[in-house]
Amino acid sequence: MDENLPENVELDISEPIWDRFFYIISLVIIGTREADGGHDLAPKHMAMPIGWDNYFGFVCSPTHATQSNAERSGVFTVSYPRPDQLLQTSLAASPRFDKVGKPALAALPVVPARVVDGVLVEGAYVELECELERIIDGFGRNSLIIGRIVAARAAEDALRVMDGDDADLIHHSPLLAYLSPGRFAKVDQSLSFPFPAGMRK
Ligand SMILES: Cc1cc2nc3c(=O)[nH]c(=O)nc-3n(C[C@H](O)[C@H](O)[C@H](O)COP(=O)(O)O)c2cc1C
Repeated sequence: MDENLPENVELDISEPIWDRFFYIISLVIIGTREADGGHDLAPKHMAMPIGWDNYFGFVCSPTHATQSNAERSGVFTVSYPRPDQLLQTSLAASPRFDKVGKPALAALPVVPARVVDGVLVEGAYVELECELERIIDGFGRNSLIIGRIVAARAAEDALRVMDGDDADLIHHSPLLAYLSPGRFAKVDQSLSFPFPAGMRK
């Protein structure tokens, strides 16, 4: 045993553990169509590709409009904001009010989706349009919403190109990292991952 290593402290699992340490994850904005024809946008950090094929999933809650909208309409969109869109991204989590809904959404310009009925955040560097694959309820208070990607676009300056320099690309088009809980970072420095020789997917 290496005595120089810090001791790992037992966490109380009678409470959620996720605020006790930091972890890194993306931050996306999920777009859905409201029953009245308007749109809803909500930031989600528990969100990621589901597998190697074109599926995308995020953790939601049956109490959120995002979930009922996705269930009713059968579609949702995913926008990956750039670091300079952080404030607008956060505002999309503002509370909703009777009659006026979520007034903070006015600060987020949108563009129409092209294949599904919905909107995406203008200026996002990746846009995904998804058809609902399934909703899996029952992870405590949460549910997992999974969509099949039916259209996808990436901004020219964020698109990897054959023989391009990936480090350069990330340097010039930085990524937004969410450091849960409650911090963020602009990632513009990166190194090539040291994959082991002979590794297979
Ligand atoms: C940085 C950040 C990350 C969030 N991540 C999630 C998430 O992963 N899943 C979730 O259900 N809510 C998440 N939320 C909360 C929802 O965005 C928020 O409750 C939103 O108002 C729900 O809107 P809706 O009722 O219109 O769906 C997050 C909020 C913020 C600010």
